[in-house]
Amino acid sequence: DYQPAREDKFTFGLWTVGWRGVNTFGEPVRPVLDAVEAVRRLSDLGAYGVTFHDDDLIPPGSDASTREQILKRFRGALEDTGLAVPMVTTNLFSHPVFRDGGFTSNSRDVRRYALRKVIRNIDLAAEMGAETYVCWNGQDGAETEAGKNDRAQLDRLREAFNILSDYVREQGYGLRFALEPKPNEPRGDVLLPTVGHALAFINELDHPEMVGVNPEVGHEQMAGLNFAHGVAQALWHDKLYHIDLNGQRGVKYDQDLRFGAGDLKEAFFLVDLLENGGYTGPRHFDFKPPRTEDMEGVWASAEGCMRNYLILREKSKAFRADPEVRAALDASRVGELSVPTLGEGESVADLLGEELDLSAVGERGYGFERLDQLALDHLMGVR
Ligand code: GCO
Ligand code: MN
Ligand code: MN
Repeated sequence: DYQPAREDKFTFGLWTVGWRGVNTFGEPVRPVLDAVEAVRRLSDLGAYGVTFHDDDLIPPGSDASTREQILKRFRGALEDTGLAVPMVTTNLFSHPVFRDGGFTSNSRDVRRYALRKVIRNIDLAAEMGAETYVCWNGQDGAETEAGKNDRAQLDRLREAFNILSDYVREQGYGLRFALEPKPNEPRGDVLLPTVGHALAFINELDHPEMVGVNPEVGHEQMAGLNFAHGVAQALWHDKLYHIDLNGQRGVKYDQDLRFGAGDLKEAFFLVDLLENGGYTGPRHFDFKPPRTEDMEGVWASAEGCMRNYLILREKSKAFRADPEVRAALDASRVGELSVPTLGEGESVADLLGEELDLSAVGERGYGFERLDQLALDHLMGVR
C-alpha cells in the first residue's frame, strides 16, 4: 500500500525531479522537464505541493510577457491538480555574478542585485500563497581566509534579513524566512554551516520571530552531525519552519539521495521525531535523482521518497505502541529526564542537603542497547 495522500503534505522542488544530472564531470543526461508536466506527475503520485526557485520557473532574462505566459500556464496546472505552493526560494548561485555569493558578495552592486532578485520573487511567493521563503546561502562562503572579512560578512547577512523582514512586514505578507545551513559545496566553506550556527545568527536579527531554519538531512550529515538531534534542537527553539528531506551516506559531497536511501536508522528516528514532535509543515523532498536514471527512474525515485517516509511512519507508530518498548523506555529512565531537577518549591538548599550513594548509582546501567535494538528490530521488520 503506502499510497501517499494530500494530507501527508509531501512536497517537491521543481529543481529535484527537473534536475538534468549535470555534475562537475558530466554533462546533462536528461531533457528539460516542463514545470507543468512536473506538477501533473507529482500530483498523480500523491504529492501535496511543489516549490521552486525563481529561475526554475521563469528563465532568467525573460521579458514581462513571457513571464506572464509562463505563470499563467503554471497557475493553470496548479488549479487543475489542486497542488499548493507552500514554499518558494531564490537562485542566488547559478549566475556568474554570484561567484562570491549573493547577500554577502564583496561586491556591493551584486548584493543590491541579490536583494532585488529576492524581493521580486517574494512578491510572487506571497501571491502564490506560500508561507515559507527559504534562503540557502549557496555561494556565500569562501575558499580562502584572506579574501573574506567574516565579521563584515555576518553584518551584511544580518542587514539583508533585516531589509527583507521589513519589506515583508510593510507589504503585509504572511511569509516567514527559513535559513538553510550547509557546511560546504559549492563553496569550500559555506556561511552558516550548521543548524546551530543558523539558530545563533537568528537571535541577532531585528525580527527573529520571522526567521527560522530549513535543515536538510544530508547537509548536517556532511558535517558529521546527527540530523535528528539538530532537528530536535530546532523544534525546541520553535524554529523548524520547513525541512529538506533526502539521503546521505557519511562525510562526503552532497549526495542528495532519495529520502531513506542514506542513513536509514537516522531516517527512522527523524520520522519518529517529526511525527511526534509537533512539526506540522510540509515534508519537503530536496533530492537529486542519480544521473543513471532516465525520466522513468526520476519518477520512481520521487515515489521512493514518499514511500520510505510512509513506511518509516508506520514503523515508528508500531515502535511507540509496542508494550516491550514502553517497558524498555521506563527501564532506561527516558521519562525521568522530563522531571525538573529541582521540584516545586525546592531550592539549592535541598540539593546541598542530599547525599548520593556514589558506588550504588555508579553501577547503574541504562539499558539503552536493549531499547535501541528494539527500534532496530522494528526497523528491520522482525517485530
Ligand atoms: C543544495 C541545496 C539546495 C537548496 C535550494 C533551496 O544543496 O543544493 O539543498 O537544493 O535547498 O536551493 O534554496
Ligand atoms: Mn543538498
Ligand atoms: Mn536543500
